[in-house]
Amino acid sequence: MSKFPKNFMWGGATAANQLEGAYKEGGKGLSIADALPGGPERFKLVNEPDFDWTIDEKQYTYPNHNGIDHYHRFKEDIALFAEMGFKCYRFSIAWSRIFPNGDEETPNEAGLKFYDQVIETCQKYGIEPVITISHYEMPLNLVKKYGGWKNRQLITFYERFARTVLTRYYKQVKYWMTFNEINSALTFPVMGQGLVASNGANDKQNIYQAWHNQFVSGAKAVKIGHELDPDLKIGCMLLYATTYSYDSNPVNQLATLEQNQAFNHFCGDVQVRGEYPAYTEKLMNKYGFSFSDLEIGDDDLAILKANPVDYIGFSYYMSATVDVADKSLEQASGNLIGGVKNPFLKASDWGWQVDPIGLRIALNELYNRYQKPVFVVENGLGAVDKPDENFHVQDDYRIDYSREHIEAMAGAVADGVDLMGYTPWGCIDLVSASTGQMSKRYGFIYVDLDDQGNGTLNRYKKASFDWYKEVIASNGEDL
Ligand code: BG6
Repeated sequence: MSKFPKNFMWGGATAANQLEGAYKEGGKGLSIADALPGGPERFKLVNEPDFDWTIDEKQYTYPNHNGIDHYHRFKEDIALFAEMGFKCYRFSIAWSRIFPNGDEETPNEAGLKFYDQVIETCQKYGIEPVITISHYEMPLNLVKKYGGWKNRQLITFYERFARTVLTRYYKQVKYWMTFNEINSALTFPVMGQGLVASNGANDKQNIYQAWHNQFVSGAKAVKIGHELDPDLKIGCMLLYATTYSYDSNPVNQLATLEQNQAFNHFCGDVQVRGEYPAYTEKLMNKYGFSFSDLEIGDDDLAILKANPVDYIGFSYYMSATVDVADKSLEQASGNLIGGVKNPFLKASDWGWQVDPIGLRIALNELYNRYQKPVFVVENGLGAVDKPDENFHVQDDYRIDYSREHIEAMAGAVADGVDLMGYTPWGCIDLVSASTGQMSKRYGFIYVDLDDQGNGTLNRYKKASFDWYKEVIASNGEDL
């Protein structure tokens, strides 16, 4: 019996702000990603108390401005995806291409025309588009003028954006996601919610208010999509980090349960089940406020209940390990959720703890919690690639990482998990979200571009390109 279902969706994933570039072309407005300086200090810089989103090109680089110039090279890039045999391609629509300031009444037709072409190119090769409506790229004006997602007016603006793209593309695009890694805001609310220290990120009530506004917006997108076509599949998208206790100390076990609730499960519980979980009040009380302090519209809870998502998309890069008992243990570095070092795991060049078995556990936890199909829409190894004089990269480390994670997925399928597909992150090298670097590469395709913006932008197939092509051709049998 084969390891993966016949119609398994093999592909790759990207996000507009990290690869398109052309940040001012075709009537595009600025997005928050356009105001994020490049380099590992980017989150620290944007959380300075006086950060005001001013783009200062004298002092900083802004790698998202030019991305990898996919805006002008998407045909070449999608042709390479097709050569690998992609069944699907996950990408996002830059909100600021469609509504440059976010609060206009009518969309920017030039922006829509760009995505018309992207979708047509996918169709030409029989590649199924999978669209993230909002992936870390809200219009900058919505942050400057409205204060980001903590402002309820954002619901109206997102609804307009979602209605516009769903109505335009529902006949060609069956698979959608509402918000990328919605739960990442617990620790990094800048990209998903437009919140930094200077506009309220340090007050957790703002983050929960922003989430509420996003939950309602996402539910409205589900409603709009299903009214257009009941067969559309609209998912949530979570950042999932399988979480272990460091040891069997019940104190650590309880802390692990609580971290799971706060980080891995809260957003999914609302979006999949359509209601706030029983532990909501406890989470909020921890930060000194109550659910009743949130601004909740009269119909909000009914909208949530009536419009749960159809599937659970999630990213998986690493696991986390919790210890609250022994303060002397070494902390894990570089990841988004913290925790201590797991002595059984190796870490990537950026300190992310590599744990394929954790993916199998994640798939089981999510599927058995919700009984809805799950979709691994991001996974991969961010590494320093060293091309030879012909720009060939022998990335065996990436092949090993991917093989082990695909084996883990096969294990989960054997466990009975209903797994829809696999779209590894940054199938072509692109700008890193957390560090704004090109040197943190995930792709099967090497892009000749460095952290300072130098390079020809030419594309080259890495060793993993041919390997992944064979994986897809054999439906995951030939690893
Ligand atoms: C996820 C995001 O956090 O992981 C992507 O959805 C991001 O946008 C990816 O690029 C990898 O993270 P990073 O920081 O290495 O780019």
